[in-house]
Amino acid sequence: MVTTTRRLRAHRAKYVCAKRHLVSPLVALQLPGVTSTSILASAAAFALFAGACTRAGSGAPDLASTPASVALRPPLTPSDTRMERFVDSVLAGLTLEEKLGQLTQNVLSAAVTGPQLPEASTADIRAGRIGSFLGTSGAEVTRNLQRVAMEQSRAKIPLLFAYDVIHGFRTIFPTPLAEAASWDPAAVERAARVAAAEGAANGLHWTFAPMVDIARDPRWGRIIEGSGEDPYLGSVMAAARVRGFQGADSTTGTPHKLRDTLTLIATAKHFVSYGAAEGGRDYNVADVPPRTLREIYLPPFHAAANAGARSVMASFNELDGVPMHANGELINGVLRREWGWDGILVSDYTGVMELLNHGVAADTAEAARISIRAGVDVDMVSTFFFKKLPAEVAAGRVPIAVIDSAVRRVLRAKYERGLFEDPYRFSNVARERALTLAPAFVAEARDMARRSIVLLKNEGGVLPLRKDLRAIAVIGPLADDATSALGAWAGAGRPEDAVTPLAGIRQAVGAGGRVLYARGASADTADSSGFAESVRVAREADAVVLVIGEREDMSGEAHSRSSLDLPGVQNELARTVYAAARASGKPMVAVLMNGRPLSVPWLAENVPAIVEAWHLGVQTGPALADVLFGDFNPSGKLPVSVLRTVGQVPTYYNHKNTGRPPVEGIRWNSKYIDVPWTPLWPFGHGLSYTTFAYDTPRVSKTEIGPTDSLTVSVDVTNTGARAGEEVVQLYVRDDAASVTRPVKMLRGFRRVMLRPAERRTLTFTLRPQDLAFYDLRMRHVVEPGSFTVWAAGSSDGGQPVRFRVVGTTAEVPDRGPLPAGWRP
Ligand code: NOJ
Repeated sequence: MVTTTRRLRAHRAKYVCAKRHLVSPLVALQLPGVTSTSILASAAAFALFAGACTRAGSGAPDLASTPASVALRPPLTPSDTRMERFVDSVLAGLTLEEKLGQLTQNVLSAAVTGPQLPEASTADIRAGRIGSFLGTSGAEVTRNLQRVAMEQSRAKIPLLFAYDVIHGFRTIFPTPLAEAASWDPAAVERAARVAAAEGAANGLHWTFAPMVDIARDPRWGRIIEGSGEDPYLGSVMAAARVRGFQGADSTTGTPHKLRDTLTLIATAKHFVSYGAAEGGRDYNVADVPPRTLREIYLPPFHAAANAGARSVMASFNELDGVPMHANGELINGVLRREWGWDGILVSDYTGVMELLNHGVAADTAEAARISIRAGVDVDMVSTFFFKKLPAEVAAGRVPIAVIDSAVRRVLRAKYERGLFEDPYRFSNVARERALTLAPAFVAEARDMARRSIVLLKNEGGVLPLRKDLRAIAVIGPLADDATSALGAWAGAGRPEDAVTPLAGIRQAVGAGGRVLYARGASADTADSSGFAESVRVAREADAVVLVIGEREDMSGEAHSRSSLDLPGVQNELARTVYAAARASGKPMVAVLMNGRPLSVPWLAENVPAIVEAWHLGVQTGPALADVLFGDFNPSGKLPVSVLRTVGQVPTYYNHKNTGRPPVEGIRWNSKYIDVPWTPLWPFGHGLSYTTFAYDTPRVSKTEIGPTDSLTVSVDVTNTGARAGEEVVQLYVRDDAASVTRPVKMLRGFRRVMLRPAERRTLTFTLRPQDLAFYDLRMRHVVEPGSFTVWAAGSSDGGQPVRFRVVGTTAEVPDRGPLPAGWRP
C-alpha cells in the first residue's frame, strides 16, 4: 500500500493543475505590504471567483427512517469527482484511530498567546487524536499548531481552526438580535463578510454562527444571539449571514467561496428548537409539537442549508424525549435525507457526553454510539468518539461506513478550504495585521450599528437633538461602559476598541459642546447614592440622555433571567432623572442597551423619546450619536415583541386566534385581568424622523389556484419633512383551514427610501410556499379558501385585502421558506 506521505505527495502533484484554476486574483491579499484599505477599496476584495471545489453527495448510510411520503432530496450541491477521489484516497490511508481523530475537536489545554504550544495539545496532534480546534486564533499560533500536524503526525492532515465569531471577531458588530432589527439582509451579509475576513485573517477556518434559533421567550439569555421570534425574518437573516460568512457572490451566482482566505465555514445552530427552552432556562427541555417544529423552528435551518451552510451544530436540548445529539430522525432524516444537506454536523460543547445526563446513554460508549449513528460527525470536547468508537466498531455496533461518511465530510471541508495544498494559507501575519480592526471594517460596523437602532417612541419630536445645545447630560450605568457596548459574545473584541455612548456623544458635539456625565447607579445593585449627582447634571443641562438597560453579562449563553425589568434601581433612576428634567423643562431621551427586549412600561408611559440601542459593538457611541442628532434617520424595526411584563411570556405576533380571541372590555375571552394582552411594542414596530402613509394594498388576482402565485402591491408615501427609509412588511393570514393558522404571518418585506412627499409602489409576490402549511397528515398543502393580506410598517398595522384560493387542496413540496436562489 502506498504510504500516506507518498500518497499526499502524488496528490499534491495533481494539484498543481487544480491550483491553476483555483488561484484567485485575491491571492495578492495574502502578501505582506497589502494594506487593509486597499483590500476594501475594491469590491473585488469580497468578490468570489469561480472555484472548482463544489460539494459532492455525502454517500452516508442513513440510519433514520424517513416517512414514505417524504420525497428524498438529492444533495444540495453537485458532486465534485476530483474532490471525492482525493478524499477517498486520504481516507484509505488512515487507521481507525486517525479517522476518529478527524472527528475529534478540542479546546487547547492552555491559553496560547505566543509561539509556545502546550505539550498536551501537541502530543494529541502528533498522535492524530485531533482533527480540529475550537477557540484558538492567531496567525502565528495556528501556523505553529498546523506545523505539528503537518511535520510530526503520521497522517499529515491539516487541522481546522474553529471559533465563535458571532458578531464580529475583533471588530465587534451589533449583537445578532440587534442586527436583525435592521431588517436589512444586505447590511447583515456585509457584516458577516467583514467578520469572516477578519476571523480568517486571524488563522480561522470555521465559525459557529449564525445562530438561527427562533426565540419566543425573552427570558432566554440567548435570544440575543438569534434573529428574534419570526421564522421568515429569521430565515432571511440566516441566509444572509451564511452568504456573508462563506462569501456567496451575487454577481456570479457563486454560492460560496470557501477556498478564499477571506471567508469562514458557517454553522447554522442549534439544531433544533433550542430557543424553545421551557421557562426560558438555558439548556432546558423543548416541548414543541411537530407542526410548530416544521413551521416555526425548522425554516431558518432550511434557509441556511439552502444558502449553502457547510456546517450545522446539534443543540443541547431534548425534543419530545429525544436529545438532539441522539436525534437521527431529524439529523439524518430531515436535514440530510429530506433537505439534501451534506455538510458537517458538529456536536455542541460536550453534547455527546451530556447524553449521559439526559439519561439516554448508560455509559460513555453508548453515548458515542448513539450520537454518531444519529448523524453527529464531529465530537466537540467530549472525546468519546475517539475513546469509545474503536470498540463499538470492532463489536459491529457502529458500521465503519458510518465513521467513513463522517470523516469524508471533515476531509471535504479541509479540501474546500485549500488546506491540502497549503495548510498555512490562513496563517499569515501580514494579512492578520492588515485586516484586524481595519478602518473600513470599523466603518461597516458603524453603519450596521446605526441601522440596528430602533426608535420606539418620539413624542413631540424630541429627537433628533440639536448639536449646538449649551449642555447635554448623559446619565446612566451603561453610558460609559465599553464592555457592555460590545455585547454578550464579543469574540476577540476588546473594551478599549469600543466607543461608548458618552464618548460618541462627546465626539459628535465636538470641542465647543458641553457634555455632563453622571453614572447614577450601577446596572444591578440597590445603591442609589449616585441619584443626587444625576439630578444635578440633569438640571444643569439643556437635554438629558439616559442610558440604561442590561450589562453584556446579563444575557447570552447560560444567562437567562426570570424578570424582564430593568435590573437594579435603574427604573427608580429613570423616574428621578425624569422628574428633574421635567421640573426644569428639559427634553429627555431614554436609550435602552440590552440583550433581550426589556419590559419598561413606566418609561413607555412617561418618557417622550425612547431609543432601543441593544449592544451595538465597537461603534456603539458614534452610531448612537448619528441617530440622536439626526445624522442618520432611524429605520430599524423590532424583530421581537416587547412585553409589558414577564407574565406575558410567551407573547408573539404570529399567535393563534383561539376560540375566544381577546377583546378589551369584554370579560370571557383570552386575556389578563391585570395587564393588557397586547405587547408594549409589537413585532415590526419602529419609527422614523419622518412619517409614512400606506394605501390599501391591491392584489393582482382575487382568485388563484392552489399552485398559483399572485402579487400584492402597495403605495407608500413619505408624509413627513425628511427623507427616510421604511421597511414595508407583508403579512398573510389563511382565514379558515383544516388546522388553525396564525393570525398573521410575515411573508415578505422590502426597504424603501423616500424623499418628502415621494410615493412609491412596492410589489411582493406570494408563492404557494407562502400560503402552505402542514395539515392533519403532515402534508405541506395549500387549501382552498379565503386569505387576508396586509402591507404595513408594523405587525399591528395595515389595511386588509382579501383573495381566494379556489379548486382543491394541493400538496406543495416544502423547499424551504425562501425562493430558490434567494439573495438580499
Ligand atoms: C456552547 C454553545 O452552545 C455553542 O453555541 C458554541 O458554539 C460552543 N459552546 C462553542 O463555544
